[in-house]
Amino acid sequence: MDTDTQRLLHTFSALADLGQEIADTGDFEEMLRNSFHLLLGSLAIRRGGVTEYDREGHQLRLVAARGLGVGTSETFNIAAHHARDLASLGSAITLADATKEAERFLEDHKSELASIEIDLLLPLVVRERLIGIVLLGEKASGEKFTEEDFETLKVLSRHIGVGIHSHRLLEEVEHKAIENQKLYDGLRKIYKETVHAFAAAIDIKDRYTQGHSVRVGKYSEIIAREMGWSDDEVEGITIAGYLHDIGKLIVDLSVINSPERFSAKESKEMSRHPSAGYEILARINHPYAEIPLMARYHHERIDGNGYPDGLKGDQIPPGAKIVTLADSFDAMTTDRPYRNKLPLEDVLEDFRANTGTQFDPVVVCAFCRAFLKEIEGSKERRLLNLLNRNYDNVESVSPLLNQLLVDFDGGSLAATAH
Ligand SMILES: [Fe+2]
Repeated sequence: MDTDTQRLLHTFSALADLGQEIADTGDFEEMLRNSFHLLLGSLAIRRGGVTEYDREGHQLRLVAARGLGVGTSETFNIAAHHARDLASLGSAITLADATKEAERFLEDHKSELASIEIDLLLPLVVRERLIGIVLLGEKASGEKFTEEDFETLKVLSRHIGVGIHSHRLLEEVEHKAIENQKLYDGLRKIYKETVHAFAAAIDIKDRYTQGHSVRVGKYSEIIAREMGWSDDEVEGITIAGYLHDIGKLIVDLSVINSPERFSAKESKEMSRHPSAGYEILARINHPYAEIPLMARYHHERIDGNGYPDGLKGDQIPPGAKIVTLADSFDAMTTDRPYRNKLPLEDVLEDFRANTGTQFDPVVVCAFCRAFLKEIEGSKERRLLNLLNRNYDNVESVSPLLNQLLVDFDGGSLAATAH
């Protein structure tokens, strides 16, 4: 094998090793160091360094080095026009015989580079931009760099340049992703707060049911969590709860605030609110797609006798079934213009009587389990806190809740609730 072929093979193997280094997504600094050592090794150069160009700081920063001696400066200032010169030049620069463009840069740095015995500069250029410069001392043999050496260095340094460039791009993308996440979280928070404020506005219109929408949101959240919904889904149903009665905003105020039970005509007016709510909500781009449907179907019944569409069983979205129960529970546990709140025992009796016709047994059981968990000492007392304002001795309904679980879940869930 002639020496040219040997050298070529050597370059190829260095290149293969370099490719491996760059493909490795591990420690970037280590990748850079190893790649640089491979480059030095391929031409038996003892001394050198890799600098990375900081475009904003107008500096070349040493990111890998070998044999440069203690006290070598970590950064070199570089004017923007010098960086442009070097980027357009692209090829290796020997200190001894530099081109005119390189000369402008070298004027400022020659003595600095000579003091650390640097003979050769390899600008790292990616997409016509300076990424950094590889600084190299002479070959161990003292021989001059040949054209072939320059070719080898060009190929190897190109890999280092692309490696640095890709790494920085990745960092930038990661940084942007974090920024975006922060922005998104911020927006989400604002969205939730806005909806919460909106819910309060809906309730103000209906002066007999102050706080109803917010409570329905909270009850829905508790039930959905008990049913094992994901955090996103739980957040969605909380918002659906807040907004379920938004259609009341366009129902005649005198109907809403009527102190009497509704007449047939008033009932008809009032029964428009789920579809009206849907019409309002469907125009908004919610992070949770089902919100408009949950509002539309919160007065449906699983036996098909509800409104507006008379859907049955599985035709009703699960979220709407949860909001239905939360809505009824809050309606029965708060004073209304035409009646006082019901005793909790009566509320649960209503649940028992209407489960399977109005309410979905799965939802009723989830509600009972969540209720029992709080009574039996779970740290969270959200449901109890909501109720304690209106009732004393809420805990006394525990046997009724257990009985509901026995009736509608064969007792299996009642056992796990303990
Ligand atoms: Fe409603």
